[in-house]
Amino acid sequence: MNVNKKFLQQYINNMQASLFLASVILFTLTKSEEHINNTPFPKDFLFGTATSAYQVEGAWNVDGKGVNNWDKFIHTNRSRIKGNDTADVTCDSYHKYKEDVALLKYLGVQFYRFSISWTRILPNGTQGKINHQGVQYYKNLLKELKRNNITPMVTIFHWDTPQALEEQGGWTNERIVHWYSRYARLCFQLFGDDVKYWMTVNEPKQTCNMGYGNGIFAPGVKSPGEGEYLCVYHVVLAHATAWRIYDKEFRAQQKGKVGIVVDCSWYEPADLWNIQDQLASQLKLHFTYGLYVNPIVYGDFPWAVKSIVKKRSLAQGYNRSRLPEFSQQQKELVKGTYDFLGLNYYTARYIKPDPDTPVDGKGYDFDSETTTFVDPHWEKGASFWLYVVPWGIKKLVTWLSQTYGNPPVIITENGYSEHGTMDDQKRISYIKSHLSNLKEAMNNGVNIKGYTYWSLMDNFEWVEGYAVKFGLYHVDFEGAKRNRTAKSSVEYYKKVISTRCLVDKCK
Ligand SMILES: *[C@@H]1O[C@H](CO)[C@@H](O)[C@H](O)[C@H]1NC(C)=O
Ligand SMILES: *[C@@H]1O[C@H](CO)[C@@H](O)[C@H](O)[C@H]1NC(C)=O
Ligand SMILES: *[C@@H]1O[C@H](CO)[C@@H](O)[C@H](O)[C@H]1NC(C)=O
Ligand SMILES: *[C@@H]1O[C@H](CO)[C@@H](O)[C@H](O)[C@H]1NC(C)=O
Ligand SMILES: *[C@@H]1O[C@H](CO)[C@@H](O)[C@H](O)[C@H]1NC(C)=O
Repeated sequence: MNVNKKFLQQYINNMQASLFLASVILFTLTKSEEHINNTPFPKDFLFGTATSAYQVEGAWNVDGKGVNNWDKFIHTNRSRIKGNDTADVTCDSYHKYKEDVALLKYLGVQFYRFSISWTRILPNGTQGKINHQGVQYYKNLLKELKRNNITPMVTIFHWDTPQALEEQGGWTNERIVHWYSRYARLCFQLFGDDVKYWMTVNEPKQTCNMGYGNGIFAPGVKSPGEGEYLCVYHVVLAHATAWRIYDKEFRAQQKGKVGIVVDCSWYEPADLWNIQDQLASQLKLHFTYGLYVNPIVYGDFPWAVKSIVKKRSLAQGYNRSRLPEFSQQQKELVKGTYDFLGLNYYTARYIKPDPDTPVDGKGYDFDSETTTFVDPHWEKGASFWLYVVPWGIKKLVTWLSQTYGNPPVIITENGYSEHGTMDDQKRISYIKSHLSNLKEAMNNGVNIKGYTYWSLMDNFEWVEGYAVKFGLYHVDFEGAKRNRTAKSSVEYYKKVISTRCLVDKCK
Protein backbone atom coordinates (compact mmCIF):
# COMPACT_ATOMS: atom_id res chain seq x y z
CA MET A 1 0.00 0.00 0.00
CA ASN A 2 2.81 2.37 0.95
CA VAL A 3 4.60 1.59 -2.28
CA ASN A 4 1.46 2.42 -4.24
CA LYS A 5 0.95 5.61 -2.32
CA LYS A 6 4.54 6.60 -2.88
CA PHE A 7 4.23 5.86 -6.58
CA LEU A 8 1.06 7.91 -6.74
CA GLN A 9 2.68 10.82 -4.92
CA GLN A 10 5.60 10.67 -7.30
CA TYR A 11 3.18 10.49 -10.21
CA ILE A 12 1.36 13.58 -8.95
CA ASN A 13 4.64 15.43 -8.46
CA ASN A 14 5.64 14.52 -11.98
CA MET A 15 2.28 15.68 -13.21
CA GLN A 16 2.65 19.01 -11.47
CA ALA A 17 6.11 19.46 -12.89
CA SER A 18 4.94 18.65 -16.39
CA LEU A 19 1.89 20.83 -16.05
CA PHE A 20 4.19 23.68 -15.14
CA LEU A 21 6.36 22.89 -18.13
CA ALA A 22 3.30 22.66 -20.37
CA SER A 23 2.19 26.08 -19.17
CA VAL A 24 5.59 27.55 -19.94
CA ILE A 25 5.51 26.06 -23.43
CA LEU A 26 1.95 27.23 -23.89
CA PHE A 27 2.75 30.71 -22.74
CA THR A 28 5.53 30.80 -25.32
CA LEU A 29 3.12 29.51 -27.97
CA THR A 30 0.52 32.13 -27.11
CA LYS A 31 3.19 34.78 -27.33
CA SER A 32 4.07 33.72 -30.85
CA GLU A 33 0.44 33.59 -31.99
CA GLU A 34 1.28 36.28 -34.54
CA HIS A 35 3.30 33.69 -36.40
CA ILE A 36 0.82 32.89 -39.17
CA ASN A 37 1.76 30.72 -42.11
CA ASN A 38 2.47 32.83 -45.17
CA THR A 39 2.28 30.25 -47.95
CA PRO A 40 -0.83 30.29 -50.17
CA PHE A 41 -3.43 27.51 -50.22
CA PRO A 42 -3.33 25.53 -53.48
CA LYS A 43 -5.70 26.50 -56.31
CA ASP A 44 -7.72 23.29 -55.97
CA PHE A 45 -8.12 23.60 -52.18
CA LEU A 46 -11.82 23.99 -51.32
CA PHE A 47 -13.18 26.56 -48.88
CA GLY A 48 -16.75 26.29 -47.65
CA THR A 49 -19.18 26.61 -44.79
CA ALA A 50 -21.87 24.38 -43.31
CA THR A 51 -25.24 23.94 -41.64
CA SER A 52 -27.50 20.98 -40.88
CA ALA A 53 -31.20 20.50 -41.61
CA TYR A 54 -32.44 20.30 -38.02
CA GLN A 55 -30.41 23.32 -36.92
CA VAL A 56 -31.52 25.74 -39.66
CA GLU A 57 -34.59 24.58 -41.60
CA GLY A 58 -37.40 24.94 -39.08
CA ALA A 59 -40.74 24.13 -40.76
CA TRP A 60 -40.83 21.08 -38.51
CA ASN A 61 -44.35 20.03 -39.53
CA VAL A 62 -44.69 21.84 -42.84
CA ASP A 63 -45.44 20.29 -46.26
CA GLY A 64 -45.66 16.71 -45.02
CA LYS A 65 -42.45 16.41 -43.01
CA GLY A 66 -42.62 13.53 -40.51
CA VAL A 67 -41.62 13.73 -36.85
CA ASN A 68 -38.02 12.93 -35.96
CA ASN A 69 -36.28 12.02 -32.70
CA TRP A 70 -35.24 15.61 -31.89
CA ASP A 71 -38.78 16.95 -32.48
CA LYS A 72 -40.04 14.32 -30.06
CA PHE A 73 -37.21 14.78 -27.51
CA ILE A 74 -37.84 18.52 -27.31
CA HIS A 75 -41.64 18.60 -27.58
CA THR A 76 -42.10 16.05 -24.77
CA ASN A 77 -39.92 18.06 -22.38
CA ARG A 78 -38.91 21.54 -23.34
CA SER A 79 -36.67 22.07 -20.32
CA ARG A 80 -34.17 19.72 -21.96
CA ILE A 81 -33.09 22.74 -24.04
CA LYS A 82 -31.53 25.89 -22.62
CA GLY A 83 -34.16 28.65 -22.46
CA ASN A 84 -36.89 26.05 -23.22
CA ASP A 85 -36.21 26.72 -26.89
CA THR A 86 -37.15 24.57 -29.87
CA ALA A 87 -36.01 24.23 -33.48
CA ASP A 88 -39.57 24.48 -34.80
CA VAL A 89 -38.70 27.66 -36.72
CA THR A 90 -35.01 28.32 -36.01
CA CYS A 91 -33.45 30.15 -39.04
CA ASP A 92 -36.46 29.27 -41.23
CA SER A 93 -34.12 28.21 -44.02
CA TYR A 94 -36.92 26.05 -45.42
CA HIS A 95 -38.46 29.31 -46.60
CA LYS A 96 -35.33 31.46 -46.85
CA TYR A 97 -32.93 29.16 -48.74
CA LYS A 98 -32.53 31.65 -51.60
CA GLU A 99 -31.33 34.26 -49.14
CA ASP A 100 -28.92 31.69 -47.65
CA VAL A 101 -27.46 30.99 -51.08
CA ALA A 102 -27.03 34.75 -51.62
CA LEU A 103 -24.98 34.88 -48.39
CA LEU A 104 -22.84 31.98 -49.64
CA LYS A 105 -22.38 33.75 -52.95
CA TYR A 106 -21.26 36.91 -51.18
CA LEU A 107 -18.72 34.92 -49.13
CA GLY A 108 -17.35 33.40 -52.32
CA VAL A 109 -17.23 29.85 -50.94
CA GLN A 110 -16.54 26.97 -53.33
CA PHE A 111 -18.96 24.67 -51.51
CA TYR A 112 -21.87 24.54 -49.10
CA ARG A 113 -22.23 21.59 -46.73
CA PHE A 114 -25.84 20.96 -45.67
CA SER A 115 -27.87 17.91 -44.64
CA ILE A 116 -31.07 16.27 -45.80
CA SER A 117 -33.81 15.79 -43.22
CA TRP A 118 -34.72 12.10 -43.43
CA THR A 119 -38.38 12.66 -42.46
CA ARG A 120 -38.82 15.45 -44.99
CA ILE A 121 -38.19 12.82 -47.69
CA LEU A 122 -39.60 9.75 -45.91
CA PRO A 123 -41.99 10.87 -43.15
CA ASN A 124 -41.99 7.39 -41.62
CA GLY A 125 -38.35 6.67 -42.32
CA THR A 126 -39.04 3.85 -44.73
CA GLN A 127 -40.13 3.59 -48.33
CA GLY A 128 -43.88 3.54 -47.63
CA LYS A 129 -44.43 7.09 -48.76
CA ILE A 130 -42.10 9.58 -50.45
CA ASN A 131 -42.94 13.18 -49.58
CA HIS A 132 -42.62 15.02 -52.87
CA GLN A 133 -42.79 18.49 -51.34
CA GLY A 134 -39.76 17.64 -49.21
CA VAL A 135 -37.91 16.32 -52.24
CA GLN A 136 -38.76 19.52 -54.11
CA TYR A 137 -37.24 21.65 -51.34
CA TYR A 138 -33.83 20.02 -51.78
CA LYS A 139 -34.14 20.13 -55.59
CA ASN A 140 -34.80 23.87 -55.32
CA LEU A 141 -31.84 24.38 -53.01
CA LEU A 142 -29.55 22.38 -55.32
CA LYS A 143 -30.77 24.37 -58.32
CA GLU A 144 -30.11 27.65 -56.57
CA LEU A 145 -26.59 26.52 -55.64
CA LYS A 146 -25.91 25.43 -59.19
CA ARG A 147 -27.10 28.78 -60.56
CA ASN A 148 -24.54 30.42 -58.28
CA ASN A 149 -21.76 27.99 -59.06
CA ILE A 150 -21.50 26.62 -55.50
CA THR A 151 -20.71 22.91 -55.07
CA PRO A 152 -23.06 21.06 -52.72
CA MET A 153 -21.60 18.70 -50.10
CA VAL A 154 -24.49 16.74 -48.70
CA THR A 155 -24.79 14.95 -45.38
CA ILE A 156 -27.37 12.16 -45.58
CA PHE A 157 -27.83 11.81 -41.81
CA HIS A 158 -27.09 14.59 -39.33
CA TRP A 159 -28.61 13.29 -36.02
CA ASP A 160 -32.34 13.49 -36.94
CA THR A 161 -33.62 9.89 -36.90
CA PRO A 162 -37.26 9.37 -37.98
CA GLN A 163 -39.36 8.96 -34.82
CA ALA A 164 -41.17 5.95 -36.36
CA LEU A 165 -37.77 4.18 -36.49
CA GLU A 166 -36.60 5.52 -33.12
CA GLU A 167 -39.62 3.83 -31.56
CA GLN A 168 -38.25 0.53 -32.85
CA GLY A 169 -34.88 1.13 -31.18
CA GLY A 170 -33.38 3.48 -33.74
CA TRP A 171 -29.64 2.94 -34.13
CA THR A 172 -29.65 0.08 -31.60
CA ASN A 173 -31.89 -2.01 -33.89
CA GLU A 174 -29.91 -3.97 -36.50
CA ARG A 175 -32.63 -3.18 -39.05
CA ILE A 176 -31.38 0.41 -39.14
CA VAL A 177 -28.67 -0.80 -41.54
CA HIS A 178 -31.43 -1.69 -44.01
CA TRP A 179 -33.58 1.39 -43.25
CA TYR A 180 -30.67 3.76 -43.57
CA SER A 181 -29.13 2.26 -46.69
CA ARG A 182 -32.46 2.31 -48.53
CA TYR A 183 -32.87 5.97 -47.58
CA ALA A 184 -29.31 6.65 -48.80
CA ARG A 185 -30.04 4.91 -52.11
CA LEU A 186 -33.11 7.10 -52.52
CA CYS A 187 -30.96 10.22 -51.92
CA PHE A 188 -28.47 9.07 -54.60
CA GLN A 189 -31.38 8.44 -57.00
CA LEU A 190 -33.14 11.72 -56.34
CA PHE A 191 -30.19 14.11 -56.04
CA GLY A 192 -27.07 12.28 -57.29
CA ASP A 193 -26.94 14.02 -60.66
CA ASP A 194 -26.26 17.29 -58.83
CA VAL A 195 -24.27 16.05 -55.82
CA LYS A 196 -20.64 14.93 -56.14
CA TYR A 197 -19.72 14.90 -52.44
CA TRP A 198 -21.78 12.74 -50.08
CA MET A 199 -21.30 12.34 -46.36
CA THR A 200 -23.14 9.33 -44.98
CA VAL A 201 -23.27 10.14 -41.27
CA ASN A 202 -22.28 13.22 -39.27
CA GLU A 203 -20.51 12.85 -35.91
CA PRO A 204 -21.79 9.38 -34.99
CA LYS A 205 -20.18 9.71 -31.55
CA GLN A 206 -22.79 12.34 -30.70
CA THR A 207 -25.62 10.02 -31.66
CA CYS A 208 -24.16 6.87 -30.08
CA ASN A 209 -22.50 8.24 -26.93
CA MET A 210 -24.75 11.23 -26.18
CA GLY A 211 -27.97 9.72 -27.61
CA TYR A 212 -27.80 6.09 -26.40
CA GLY A 213 -24.94 6.24 -23.87
CA ASN A 214 -25.41 9.08 -21.40
CA GLY A 215 -28.76 10.19 -22.86
CA ILE A 216 -28.08 13.93 -22.95
CA PHE A 217 -29.11 14.10 -26.63
CA ALA A 218 -32.10 12.60 -28.45
CA PRO A 219 -33.43 9.99 -28.01
CA GLY A 220 -32.29 10.34 -24.37
CA VAL A 221 -31.57 6.63 -23.85
CA LYS A 222 -29.15 5.73 -21.05
CA SER A 223 -27.43 2.52 -22.12
CA PRO A 224 -23.70 3.24 -21.78
CA GLY A 225 -21.42 0.67 -23.38
CA GLU A 226 -24.32 -1.54 -24.51
CA GLY A 227 -26.91 0.28 -26.65
CA GLU A 228 -24.13 2.78 -27.22
CA TYR A 229 -21.83 0.19 -28.85
CA LEU A 230 -24.67 -1.44 -30.79
CA CYS A 231 -25.20 2.02 -32.28
CA VAL A 232 -21.49 2.26 -33.19
CA TYR A 233 -21.59 -1.18 -34.84
CA HIS A 234 -24.73 -0.33 -36.85
CA VAL A 235 -23.44 3.09 -37.90
CA VAL A 236 -20.33 1.47 -39.40
CA LEU A 237 -22.39 -1.20 -41.19
CA ALA A 238 -24.93 1.37 -42.41
CA HIS A 239 -22.19 3.66 -43.73
CA ALA A 240 -20.42 0.77 -45.48
CA THR A 241 -23.64 -0.56 -47.04
CA ALA A 242 -24.47 2.90 -48.40
CA TRP A 243 -20.93 3.28 -49.82
CA ARG A 244 -21.23 -0.15 -51.50
CA ILE A 245 -24.60 0.83 -52.98
CA TYR A 246 -23.11 4.01 -54.38
CA ASP A 247 -20.06 2.19 -55.69
CA LYS A 248 -22.11 -0.51 -57.41
CA GLU A 249 -25.16 1.36 -58.65
CA PHE A 250 -24.26 5.03 -59.04
CA ARG A 251 -20.54 5.74 -59.22
CA ALA A 252 -20.00 4.96 -62.89
CA GLN A 253 -22.68 7.40 -63.94
CA GLN A 254 -22.65 10.05 -61.21
CA LYS A 255 -18.87 10.07 -60.55
CA GLY A 256 -19.12 11.40 -57.00
CA LYS A 257 -17.29 10.69 -53.76
CA VAL A 258 -18.67 9.25 -50.53
CA GLY A 259 -17.16 9.65 -47.08
CA ILE A 260 -18.08 9.80 -43.38
CA VAL A 261 -17.74 12.71 -40.94
CA VAL A 262 -16.27 11.96 -37.52
CA ASP A 263 -15.63 14.53 -34.80
CA CYS A 264 -12.48 14.28 -32.73
CA SER A 265 -10.60 16.46 -30.29
CA TRP A 266 -6.84 16.29 -30.08
CA TYR A 267 -5.67 14.45 -26.94
CA GLU A 268 -2.27 15.71 -25.87
CA PRO A 269 -0.29 13.48 -23.46
CA ALA A 270 -0.29 15.23 -20.05
CA ASP A 271 3.44 14.64 -19.95
CA LEU A 272 4.96 14.27 -23.41
CA TRP A 273 7.86 12.26 -21.97
CA ASN A 274 5.65 9.80 -20.08
CA ILE A 275 4.96 6.61 -22.01
CA GLN A 276 1.71 5.92 -20.09
CA ASP A 277 0.36 9.34 -21.04
CA GLN A 278 1.34 8.75 -24.64
CA LEU A 279 -0.50 5.42 -24.61
CA ALA A 280 -3.55 7.11 -23.05
CA SER A 281 -3.52 9.66 -25.87
CA GLN A 282 -3.31 6.97 -28.58
CA LEU A 283 -6.04 4.89 -26.93
CA LYS A 284 -8.42 7.84 -26.66
CA LEU A 285 -7.84 8.81 -30.30
CA HIS A 286 -8.67 5.23 -31.29
CA PHE A 287 -11.80 5.33 -29.08
CA THR A 288 -12.90 8.62 -30.65
CA TYR A 289 -11.89 8.62 -34.32
CA GLY A 290 -10.69 5.03 -34.74
CA LEU A 291 -13.89 3.39 -33.48
CA TYR A 292 -15.60 4.51 -36.71
CA VAL A 293 -12.74 4.97 -39.13
CA ASN A 294 -10.52 1.97 -38.37
CA PRO A 295 -13.23 -0.48 -39.61
CA ILE A 296 -13.81 1.65 -42.69
CA VAL A 297 -10.09 1.76 -43.55
CA TYR A 298 -8.79 -1.56 -42.18
CA GLY A 299 -11.89 -3.74 -41.67
CA ASP A 300 -12.16 -3.92 -37.88
CA PHE A 301 -12.40 -1.92 -34.64
CA PRO A 302 -8.98 -0.83 -33.33
CA TRP A 303 -7.18 -3.67 -31.58
CA ALA A 304 -6.50 -1.63 -28.43
CA VAL A 305 -10.19 -0.69 -28.10
CA LYS A 306 -11.40 -4.27 -28.60
CA SER A 307 -8.94 -5.54 -26.06
CA ILE A 308 -9.71 -3.07 -23.24
CA VAL A 309 -13.51 -3.27 -23.68
CA LYS A 310 -13.34 -7.07 -23.57
CA LYS A 311 -11.18 -7.03 -20.45
CA ARG A 312 -13.58 -4.63 -18.69
CA SER A 313 -16.70 -6.50 -19.85
CA LEU A 314 -15.43 -9.83 -18.48
CA ALA A 315 -14.50 -8.13 -15.18
CA GLN A 316 -18.08 -6.82 -15.06
CA GLY A 317 -19.53 -10.33 -15.34
CA TYR A 318 -20.41 -10.36 -19.04
CA ASN A 319 -19.58 -13.54 -20.92
CA ARG A 320 -18.22 -11.55 -23.89
CA SER A 321 -17.24 -8.04 -24.89
CA ARG A 322 -19.92 -5.36 -24.83
CA LEU A 323 -18.41 -4.16 -28.13
CA PRO A 324 -19.97 -6.28 -30.94
CA GLU A 325 -17.60 -8.26 -33.16
CA PHE A 326 -17.65 -8.01 -36.94
CA SER A 327 -18.06 -11.36 -38.73
CA GLN A 328 -15.55 -12.18 -41.47
CA GLN A 329 -18.15 -11.22 -44.06
CA GLN A 330 -18.83 -7.88 -42.33
CA LYS A 331 -15.11 -7.11 -42.15
CA GLU A 332 -14.92 -7.52 -45.90
CA LEU A 333 -18.04 -5.41 -46.32
CA VAL A 334 -16.75 -2.44 -44.33
CA LYS A 335 -13.06 -2.45 -45.34
CA GLY A 336 -12.12 0.28 -47.82
CA THR A 337 -15.51 2.01 -47.92
CA TYR A 338 -14.38 5.63 -48.22
CA ASP A 339 -13.35 8.06 -50.94
CA PHE A 340 -12.34 10.70 -48.39
CA LEU A 341 -12.51 11.13 -44.62
CA GLY A 342 -14.31 14.02 -42.95
CA LEU A 343 -12.93 15.48 -39.73
CA ASN A 344 -14.69 17.91 -37.41
CA TYR A 345 -12.15 19.60 -35.14
CA TYR A 346 -12.95 22.21 -32.49
CA THR A 347 -10.83 21.71 -29.40
CA ALA A 348 -8.24 19.69 -27.46
CA ARG A 349 -7.61 18.18 -24.02
CA TYR A 350 -4.66 16.93 -22.01
CA ILE A 351 -4.95 13.26 -21.15
CA LYS A 352 -3.50 10.68 -18.75
CA PRO A 353 -4.45 7.23 -17.46
CA ASP A 354 -7.14 7.23 -14.78
CA PRO A 355 -6.36 4.59 -12.15
CA ASP A 356 -9.64 5.53 -10.40
CA THR A 357 -11.92 4.57 -13.32
CA PRO A 358 -14.88 2.77 -11.71
CA VAL A 359 -14.70 -0.97 -12.39
CA ASP A 360 -18.38 -0.99 -13.37
CA GLY A 361 -18.14 2.08 -15.67
CA LYS A 362 -19.20 1.41 -19.25
CA GLY A 363 -18.96 3.03 -22.65
CA TYR A 364 -16.95 5.82 -24.25
CA ASP A 365 -16.96 7.83 -21.02
CA PHE A 366 -15.18 5.07 -19.03
CA ASP A 367 -13.82 2.24 -21.16
CA SER A 368 -10.57 4.00 -22.13
CA GLU A 369 -9.62 4.33 -18.41
CA THR A 370 -8.30 7.83 -19.02
CA THR A 371 -9.03 11.28 -17.66
CA THR A 372 -8.74 14.61 -19.44
CA PHE A 373 -8.17 18.19 -18.34
CA VAL A 374 -7.59 21.61 -19.84
CA ASP A 375 -4.97 24.25 -19.41
CA PRO A 376 -6.52 27.13 -17.44
CA HIS A 377 -4.75 29.57 -19.77
CA TRP A 378 -6.57 28.31 -22.83
CA GLU A 379 -9.02 30.84 -24.24
CA LYS A 380 -12.66 29.74 -24.13
CA GLY A 381 -15.53 29.97 -26.61
CA ALA A 382 -19.13 30.35 -25.42
CA SER A 383 -19.75 26.58 -25.52
CA PHE A 384 -18.69 25.05 -22.20
CA TRP A 385 -16.52 22.46 -23.99
CA LEU A 386 -14.80 24.78 -26.46
CA TYR A 387 -11.24 25.71 -25.53
CA VAL A 388 -9.22 27.30 -28.32
CA VAL A 389 -6.22 25.08 -29.18
CA PRO A 390 -5.14 25.78 -32.76
CA TRP A 391 -2.02 23.58 -32.65
CA GLY A 392 -4.30 20.62 -31.89
CA ILE A 393 -5.61 20.55 -35.46
CA LYS A 394 -2.08 20.19 -36.80
CA LYS A 395 -1.28 17.32 -34.46
CA LEU A 396 -4.60 15.62 -35.15
CA VAL A 397 -4.42 15.69 -38.96
CA THR A 398 -0.81 14.53 -38.74
CA TRP A 399 -1.89 11.60 -36.53
CA LEU A 400 -4.74 10.81 -38.92
CA SER A 401 -2.46 10.85 -41.91
CA GLN A 402 0.07 8.55 -40.22
CA THR A 403 -2.56 6.19 -38.83
CA TYR A 404 -4.65 5.71 -41.99
CA GLY A 405 -2.09 5.93 -44.80
CA ASN A 406 -2.47 9.61 -45.70
CA PRO A 407 -6.06 9.46 -47.04
CA PRO A 408 -7.74 12.51 -48.60
CA VAL A 409 -9.22 14.51 -45.70
CA ILE A 410 -11.78 17.30 -45.69
CA ILE A 411 -12.08 19.42 -42.55
CA THR A 412 -15.88 19.22 -42.52
CA GLU A 413 -16.29 21.47 -39.44
CA ASN A 414 -14.22 23.90 -37.42
CA GLY A 415 -15.70 26.84 -35.57
CA TYR A 416 -15.88 29.25 -32.66
CA SER A 417 -18.89 30.23 -30.53
CA GLU A 418 -19.76 33.49 -28.76
CA HIS A 419 -22.85 34.87 -27.02
CA GLY A 420 -23.76 37.51 -29.61
CA THR A 421 -20.90 39.65 -30.90
CA MET A 422 -21.07 41.44 -34.24
CA ASP A 423 -17.41 42.49 -34.22
CA ASP A 424 -16.20 38.91 -33.72
CA GLN A 425 -12.43 39.41 -33.65
CA LYS A 426 -11.98 36.20 -31.63
CA ARG A 427 -13.67 34.20 -34.40
CA ILE A 428 -11.34 35.82 -36.93
CA SER A 429 -8.27 34.84 -34.95
CA TYR A 430 -9.72 31.32 -34.43
CA ILE A 431 -10.13 30.82 -38.19
CA LYS A 432 -6.73 32.34 -38.92
CA SER A 433 -4.79 30.29 -36.37
CA HIS A 434 -6.51 27.01 -37.27
CA LEU A 435 -5.99 27.51 -41.00
CA SER A 436 -2.36 28.43 -40.32
CA ASN A 437 -1.77 25.18 -38.43
CA LEU A 438 -3.62 23.24 -41.10
CA LYS A 439 -1.42 24.78 -43.79
CA GLU A 440 1.70 23.81 -41.86
CA ALA A 441 0.50 20.20 -41.79
CA MET A 442 -0.24 20.40 -45.54
CA ASN A 443 3.25 21.76 -46.17
CA ASN A 444 4.53 18.64 -44.37
CA GLY A 445 2.61 16.42 -46.80
CA VAL A 446 -0.72 15.83 -45.02
CA ASN A 447 -3.42 15.35 -47.66
CA ILE A 448 -6.05 18.01 -46.81
CA LYS A 449 -8.52 18.79 -49.61
CA GLY A 450 -10.78 21.37 -48.05
CA TYR A 451 -11.88 23.42 -45.05
CA THR A 452 -15.39 24.07 -43.76
CA TYR A 453 -16.20 26.84 -41.32
CA TRP A 454 -19.06 25.89 -38.95
CA SER A 455 -21.41 27.63 -39.40
CA LEU A 456 -22.78 29.87 -42.14
CA MET A 457 -25.11 31.49 -39.60
CA ASP A 458 -26.16 31.33 -35.96
CA ASN A 459 -28.54 28.40 -35.48
CA PHE A 460 -30.14 25.92 -33.09
CA GLU A 461 -27.19 24.54 -31.11
CA TRP A 462 -28.95 21.37 -29.80
CA VAL A 463 -29.35 21.35 -25.99
CA GLU A 464 -27.69 24.78 -25.82
CA GLY A 465 -30.56 26.22 -27.85
CA TYR A 466 -29.78 29.72 -29.16
CA ALA A 467 -27.51 30.66 -26.25
CA VAL A 468 -24.27 30.03 -28.16
CA LYS A 469 -23.60 31.29 -31.65
CA PHE A 470 -21.22 29.82 -34.24
CA GLY A 471 -22.33 31.87 -37.26
CA LEU A 472 -20.42 34.06 -39.67
CA TYR A 473 -23.83 35.70 -40.02
CA HIS A 474 -25.94 36.80 -37.06
CA VAL A 475 -29.59 35.69 -37.14
CA ASP A 476 -32.30 37.73 -35.43
CA PHE A 477 -34.26 34.97 -33.69
CA GLU A 478 -36.60 37.51 -32.07
CA GLY A 479 -37.78 38.90 -35.41
CA ALA A 480 -40.39 37.07 -37.47
CA LYS A 481 -38.21 37.56 -40.57
CA ARG A 482 -35.17 35.93 -38.99
CA ASN A 483 -32.96 38.59 -40.59
CA ARG A 484 -29.34 37.66 -41.27
CA THR A 485 -26.57 40.23 -40.69
CA ALA A 486 -22.88 39.83 -41.49
CA LYS A 487 -20.46 39.78 -38.55
CA SER A 488 -16.89 41.08 -39.02
CA SER A 489 -15.68 37.55 -39.76
CA VAL A 490 -17.59 37.54 -43.08
CA GLU A 491 -15.19 40.06 -44.62
CA TYR A 492 -12.21 38.21 -43.18
CA TYR A 493 -13.24 34.76 -44.47
CA LYS A 494 -14.25 36.25 -47.83
CA LYS A 495 -10.76 37.69 -48.18
CA VAL A 496 -9.05 34.43 -47.23
CA ILE A 497 -11.10 32.60 -49.84
CA SER A 498 -10.39 35.09 -52.61
CA THR A 499 -6.66 35.53 -51.84
CA ARG A 500 -6.02 31.92 -50.60
CA CYS A 501 -3.73 33.62 -48.14
CA LEU A 502 -3.82 34.22 -44.34
CA VAL A 503 -1.53 37.23 -44.19
CA ASP A 504 -1.45 40.53 -46.07
CA LYS A 505 0.87 39.16 -48.70
CA CYS A 506 1.72 35.50 -49.23
CA LYS A 507 5.11 34.31 -50.44
C1 LIG B 1 -46.37 7.71 -40.64
O1 LIG B 1 -46.18 9.10 -40.45
C2 LIG B 1 -47.35 9.83 -40.24
C3 LIG B 1 -46.95 11.29 -40.19
O2 LIG B 1 -45.82 11.51 -39.39
C4 LIG B 1 -48.04 9.34 -38.97
O3 LIG B 1 -49.22 10.04 -38.76
C5 LIG B 1 -48.32 7.85 -39.13
O4 LIG B 1 -48.88 7.33 -37.94
C6 LIG B 1 -47.06 7.08 -39.45
N1 LIG B 1 -47.35 5.70 -39.70
C7 LIG B 1 -46.63 4.70 -39.23
C8 LIG B 1 -47.04 3.33 -39.65
O5 LIG B 1 -45.66 4.88 -38.49
C1 LIG C 1 -37.21 17.25 -18.38
O1 LIG C 1 -35.86 17.54 -18.60
C2 LIG C 1 -35.20 18.09 -17.48
C3 LIG C 1 -33.81 18.51 -17.94
O2 LIG C 1 -33.14 17.46 -18.57
C4 LIG C 1 -35.19 17.05 -16.38
O3 LIG C 1 -34.55 17.58 -15.25
C5 LIG C 1 -36.61 16.66 -16.06
O4 LIG C 1 -36.62 15.61 -15.11
C6 LIG C 1 -37.36 16.21 -17.29
N1 LIG C 1 -38.75 16.04 -16.98
C7 LIG C 1 -39.43 14.94 -17.31
C8 LIG C 1 -40.88 14.92 -16.97
O5 LIG C 1 -38.91 13.98 -17.88
C1 LIG D 1 -38.73 26.45 -18.74
O1 LIG D 1 -39.85 25.67 -18.43
C2 LIG D 1 -39.89 25.28 -17.06
C3 LIG D 1 -41.04 24.31 -16.88
O2 LIG D 1 -42.17 24.71 -17.60
C4 LIG D 1 -40.03 26.54 -16.19
O3 LIG D 1 -40.03 26.18 -14.84
C5 LIG D 1 -38.82 27.45 -16.46
O4 LIG D 1 -38.97 28.66 -15.76
C6 LIG D 1 -38.70 27.75 -17.95
N1 LIG D 1 -37.45 28.44 -18.19
C7 LIG D 1 -37.36 29.47 -19.02
C8 LIG D 1 -35.99 30.06 -19.20
O5 LIG D 1 -38.32 29.92 -19.64
C1 LIG E 1 -23.81 -15.06 -22.85
O1 LIG E 1 -24.85 -14.48 -22.09
C2 LIG E 1 -26.03 -14.24 -22.82
C3 LIG E 1 -27.01 -13.55 -21.90
O2 LIG E 1 -26.40 -12.46 -21.29
C4 LIG E 1 -26.59 -15.56 -23.33
O3 LIG E 1 -27.74 -15.30 -24.12
C5 LIG E 1 -25.54 -16.25 -24.19
O4 LIG E 1 -26.00 -17.54 -24.57
C6 LIG E 1 -24.23 -16.40 -23.42
N1 LIG E 1 -23.21 -16.91 -24.33
C7 LIG E 1 -22.35 -17.84 -23.99
C8 LIG E 1 -21.34 -18.21 -25.04
O5 LIG E 1 -22.34 -18.33 -22.90
C1 LIG F 1 -35.57 42.54 -41.67
O1 LIG F 1 -35.27 42.69 -43.03
C2 LIG F 1 -36.28 43.30 -43.77
C3 LIG F 1 -35.94 43.24 -45.23
O2 LIG F 1 -34.55 43.32 -45.43
C4 LIG F 1 -36.47 44.73 -43.27
O3 LIG F 1 -37.50 45.36 -43.97
C5 LIG F 1 -36.83 44.67 -41.78
O4 LIG F 1 -36.88 45.95 -41.24
C6 LIG F 1 -35.81 43.87 -41.01
N1 LIG F 1 -36.32 43.65 -39.66
C7 LIG F 1 -35.59 43.91 -38.58
C8 LIG F 1 -36.26 43.63 -37.28
O5 LIG F 1 -34.45 44.32 -38.65
